[in-house]
Amino acid sequence: MNHVGTHAIETERLILRRYVLEDAPMMFKYWASDAEVTKYLTWPPHASVDVTKQVIASWLESYEKPDTYHWGLVMKDTGELFGDIAVVRIAEPILEAELGWCMGRAWWGNGYMPEAARAVMRVLFDEAGFNRVCATHDVENPKSGRVMQKIGMTFEGVSRQGDLNNRGIVDLARYALLRADFT
Ligand SMILES: CC(C)(COP(=O)(O)OP(=O)(O)OC[C@H]1O[C@@H](n2cnc3c(N)ncnc32)[C@H](O)[C@@H]1OP(=O)(O)O)[C@@H](O)C(=O)NCCC(=O)NCCS
Repeated sequence: MNHVGTHAIETERLILRRYVLEDAPMMFKYWASDAEVTKYLTWPPHASVDVTKQVIASWLESYEKPDTYHWGLVMKDTGELFGDIAVVRIAEPILEAELGWCMGRAWWGNGYMPEAARAVMRVLFDEAGFNRVCATHDVENPKSGRVMQKIGMTFEGVSRQGDLNNRGIVDLARYALLRADFT
Protein backbone atom coordinates (compact mmCIF):
# COMPACT_ATOMS: atom_id res chain seq x y z
CA MET A 1 0.00 0.00 0.00
CA ASN A 2 1.04 3.55 -0.66
CA HIS A 3 -1.25 5.69 1.47
CA VAL A 4 -1.58 9.17 0.02
CA GLY A 5 -4.05 10.65 2.53
CA THR A 6 -6.70 13.24 1.69
CA HIS A 7 -5.61 15.46 -1.15
CA ALA A 8 -7.89 17.70 -3.20
CA ILE A 9 -9.56 16.18 -6.26
CA GLU A 10 -11.27 18.02 -9.08
CA THR A 11 -14.08 16.51 -11.17
CA GLU A 12 -16.24 18.03 -13.88
CA ARG A 13 -18.64 19.73 -11.44
CA LEU A 14 -17.04 19.26 -8.02
CA ILE A 15 -14.06 19.92 -5.83
CA LEU A 16 -13.34 17.29 -3.17
CA ARG A 17 -11.19 18.75 -0.43
CA ARG A 18 -10.18 18.52 3.22
CA TYR A 19 -12.51 20.08 5.76
CA VAL A 20 -11.62 23.27 7.61
CA LEU A 21 -13.24 24.46 10.85
CA GLU A 22 -14.96 27.29 8.98
CA ASP A 23 -17.07 24.64 7.17
CA ALA A 24 -19.17 24.03 10.30
CA PRO A 25 -22.08 26.41 9.49
CA MET A 26 -22.57 25.01 5.96
CA MET A 27 -22.19 21.39 7.03
CA PHE A 28 -24.66 21.92 9.88
CA LYS A 29 -27.20 23.71 7.71
CA TYR A 30 -27.05 21.56 4.59
CA TRP A 31 -26.90 18.05 5.97
CA ALA A 32 -25.66 17.43 9.55
CA SER A 33 -28.82 18.81 11.19
CA ASP A 34 -31.26 17.07 8.81
CA ALA A 35 -32.94 13.94 10.17
CA GLU A 36 -33.98 13.00 6.63
CA VAL A 37 -30.29 12.79 5.64
CA THR A 38 -29.27 10.84 8.77
CA LYS A 39 -32.23 8.44 8.65
CA TYR A 40 -30.09 5.51 7.43
CA LEU A 41 -26.84 6.64 9.10
CA THR A 42 -25.34 5.72 12.46
CA TRP A 43 -25.02 9.22 13.96
CA PRO A 44 -27.86 11.45 15.21
CA PRO A 45 -28.58 14.82 13.57
CA HIS A 46 -26.45 17.54 15.15
CA ALA A 47 -28.36 19.60 17.71
CA SER A 48 -26.25 22.73 17.20
CA VAL A 49 -23.45 24.07 15.05
CA ASP A 50 -21.11 23.59 18.03
CA VAL A 51 -21.54 19.83 17.68
CA THR A 52 -20.58 20.15 14.00
CA LYS A 53 -17.52 22.20 14.98
CA GLN A 54 -16.39 19.50 17.41
CA VAL A 55 -16.87 16.78 14.82
CA ILE A 56 -14.85 18.70 12.23
CA ALA A 57 -12.12 19.39 14.82
CA SER A 58 -11.75 15.62 15.37
CA TRP A 59 -11.56 15.07 11.60
CA LEU A 60 -8.80 17.70 11.31
CA GLU A 61 -6.71 15.69 13.79
CA SER A 62 -7.29 12.52 11.77
CA TYR A 63 -5.77 14.18 8.68
CA GLU A 64 -2.38 13.74 10.34
CA LYS A 65 -2.67 9.99 9.59
CA PRO A 66 -1.74 9.09 6.00
CA ASP A 67 -4.50 6.47 5.79
CA THR A 68 -7.27 9.03 6.32
CA TYR A 69 -9.39 9.54 3.19
CA HIS A 70 -12.13 12.05 3.99
CA TRP A 71 -13.39 14.78 1.72
CA GLY A 72 -15.96 17.55 1.81
CA LEU A 73 -17.82 17.96 -1.49
CA VAL A 74 -17.91 21.48 -2.89
CA MET A 75 -19.88 22.73 -5.89
CA LYS A 76 -17.43 24.29 -8.31
CA ASP A 77 -19.86 26.94 -9.51
CA THR A 78 -21.21 28.18 -6.16
CA GLY A 79 -18.48 27.21 -3.68
CA GLU A 80 -21.08 25.59 -1.44
CA LEU A 81 -19.97 22.65 0.73
CA PHE A 82 -22.87 20.23 0.36
CA GLY A 83 -21.74 16.70 1.19
CA ASP A 84 -19.25 14.20 2.46
CA ILE A 85 -17.41 11.12 1.22
CA ALA A 86 -14.92 9.06 3.21
CA VAL A 87 -13.19 5.74 3.63
CA VAL A 88 -14.93 4.52 6.77
CA ARG A 89 -13.00 1.26 7.20
CA ILE A 90 -9.77 -0.24 5.89
CA ALA A 91 -8.89 -3.95 5.86
CA GLU A 92 -5.22 -3.59 5.00
CA PRO A 93 -4.32 -7.32 4.66
CA ILE A 94 -6.79 -7.66 1.79
CA LEU A 95 -6.18 -4.15 0.43
CA GLU A 96 -9.83 -3.24 1.02
CA ALA A 97 -11.42 0.17 1.62
CA GLU A 98 -15.07 0.77 2.50
CA LEU A 99 -16.72 4.01 1.37
CA GLY A 100 -19.45 5.98 3.13
CA TRP A 101 -21.24 9.10 1.84
CA CYS A 102 -24.02 11.60 2.49
CA MET A 103 -25.12 14.98 1.22
CA GLY A 104 -27.65 17.76 1.56
CA ARG A 105 -31.16 17.03 0.31
CA ALA A 106 -31.19 20.00 -2.06
CA TRP A 107 -28.44 18.33 -4.11
CA TRP A 108 -29.90 14.81 -4.35
CA GLY A 109 -30.70 13.31 -7.71
CA ASN A 110 -28.07 15.09 -9.85
CA GLY A 111 -25.48 12.32 -9.97
CA TYR A 112 -23.08 14.23 -7.75
CA MET A 113 -22.27 11.30 -5.46
CA PRO A 114 -21.50 8.89 -8.32
CA GLU A 115 -19.20 11.58 -9.77
CA ALA A 116 -17.42 12.04 -6.43
CA ALA A 117 -17.18 8.31 -5.70
CA ARG A 118 -15.65 7.53 -9.10
CA ALA A 119 -12.96 10.15 -8.50
CA VAL A 120 -12.28 8.79 -5.01
CA MET A 121 -12.00 5.23 -6.33
CA ARG A 122 -9.44 6.43 -8.91
CA VAL A 123 -7.27 7.67 -6.02
CA LEU A 124 -7.81 4.52 -3.95
CA PHE A 125 -7.02 2.10 -6.79
CA ASP A 126 -4.40 4.01 -8.79
CA GLU A 127 -2.56 5.97 -6.10
CA ALA A 128 -3.06 4.16 -2.78
CA GLY A 129 -2.96 0.61 -4.17
CA PHE A 130 -6.25 -0.77 -2.86
CA ASN A 131 -7.53 -3.90 -4.61
CA ARG A 132 -11.14 -3.80 -3.45
CA VAL A 133 -13.50 -0.92 -2.68
CA CYS A 134 -16.78 -1.82 -1.03
CA ALA A 135 -19.89 -0.09 0.33
CA THR A 136 -23.05 -1.09 2.17
CA HIS A 137 -26.56 0.27 2.54
CA ASP A 138 -29.71 -0.35 4.55
CA VAL A 139 -31.99 -2.29 2.17
CA GLU A 140 -34.66 0.38 2.80
CA ASN A 141 -32.28 2.99 1.31
CA PRO A 142 -32.05 1.98 -2.36
CA LYS A 143 -30.91 5.49 -3.38
CA SER A 144 -27.50 4.68 -1.97
CA GLY A 145 -27.58 1.30 -3.72
CA ARG A 146 -28.17 3.13 -7.01
CA VAL A 147 -24.94 5.05 -6.43
CA MET A 148 -23.11 1.75 -5.91
CA GLN A 149 -24.56 0.35 -9.14
CA LYS A 150 -23.76 3.50 -11.11
CA ILE A 151 -20.09 3.39 -10.09
CA GLY A 152 -19.77 -0.19 -11.28
CA MET A 153 -19.94 -2.07 -8.00
CA THR A 154 -21.33 -5.61 -7.94
CA PHE A 155 -24.05 -6.65 -5.50
CA GLU A 156 -22.62 -9.30 -3.18
CA GLY A 157 -25.62 -10.12 -1.00
CA VAL A 158 -27.52 -9.09 2.09
CA SER A 159 -26.43 -9.52 5.70
CA ARG A 160 -29.77 -10.12 7.39
CA GLN A 161 -30.18 -7.97 10.52
CA GLY A 162 -26.51 -7.22 9.98
CA ASP A 163 -26.30 -3.55 10.89
CA LEU A 164 -27.46 -0.98 13.40
CA ASN A 165 -28.41 2.54 12.33
CA ASN A 166 -30.87 5.26 13.32
CA ARG A 167 -33.74 2.97 12.30
CA GLY A 168 -32.55 0.15 14.59
CA ILE A 169 -31.31 -3.27 13.49
CA VAL A 170 -31.53 -3.51 9.70
CA ASP A 171 -30.75 -5.77 6.76
CA LEU A 172 -27.58 -4.63 5.01
CA ALA A 173 -26.91 -4.85 1.27
CA ARG A 174 -23.27 -5.25 0.28
CA TYR A 175 -21.52 -4.08 -2.89
CA ALA A 176 -17.89 -4.05 -4.05
CA LEU A 177 -15.65 -3.33 -7.00
CA LEU A 178 -12.26 -4.92 -7.69
CA ARG A 179 -9.37 -2.96 -9.18
CA ALA A 180 -9.30 -5.33 -12.16
CA ASP A 181 -12.88 -4.34 -13.02
CA PHE A 182 -12.42 -0.58 -12.59
CA THR A 183 -12.40 1.32 -15.86
C1 LIG B 1 -27.52 8.32 -1.19
C2 LIG B 1 -27.14 9.69 -1.74
C3 LIG B 1 -25.70 9.98 -1.36
C4 LIG B 1 -27.30 9.66 -3.27
O1 LIG B 1 -26.55 10.70 -3.87
P1 LIG B 1 -27.02 11.40 -5.24
O2 LIG B 1 -25.94 12.29 -5.69
O3 LIG B 1 -28.39 11.97 -5.04
O4 LIG B 1 -27.13 10.14 -6.22
P2 LIG B 1 -27.85 10.10 -7.64
O5 LIG B 1 -28.12 11.48 -8.14
O6 LIG B 1 -27.06 9.18 -8.47
O7 LIG B 1 -29.27 9.46 -7.30
C5 LIG B 1 -29.35 8.14 -6.80
C6 LIG B 1 -30.79 7.72 -6.79
O8 LIG B 1 -31.54 8.51 -5.89
C7 LIG B 1 -32.91 8.63 -6.35
N1 LIG B 1 -33.24 10.06 -6.53
C8 LIG B 1 -33.05 10.83 -7.60
N2 LIG B 1 -33.50 12.06 -7.40
C9 LIG B 1 -33.97 12.09 -6.16
C10 LIG B 1 -34.56 13.11 -5.36
N3 LIG B 1 -34.74 14.34 -5.80
N4 LIG B 1 -34.93 12.78 -4.11
C11 LIG B 1 -34.76 11.55 -3.66
N5 LIG B 1 -34.20 10.57 -4.38
C12 LIG B 1 -33.81 10.83 -5.60
C13 LIG B 1 -32.98 7.91 -7.63
O9 LIG B 1 -33.43 6.60 -7.40
C14 LIG B 1 -31.54 7.89 -8.10
O10 LIG B 1 -31.26 6.82 -8.98
P3 LIG B 1 -31.57 7.03 -10.57
O11 LIG B 1 -30.70 8.18 -11.01
O12 LIG B 1 -31.18 5.74 -11.17
O13 LIG B 1 -33.03 7.36 -10.71
C15 LIG B 1 -28.06 10.80 -1.17
O14 LIG B 1 -29.38 10.46 -1.45
C16 LIG B 1 -27.92 10.98 0.34
O15 LIG B 1 -27.05 11.71 0.79
N6 LIG B 1 -28.79 10.34 1.14
C17 LIG B 1 -28.77 10.50 2.60
C18 LIG B 1 -27.56 9.88 3.24
C19 LIG B 1 -27.42 8.42 2.92
O16 LIG B 1 -28.39 7.70 2.89
N7 LIG B 1 -26.16 8.00 2.69
C20 LIG B 1 -25.87 6.62 2.33
C21 LIG B 1 -25.86 5.71 3.50
S1 LIG B 1 -25.47 4.05 2.94
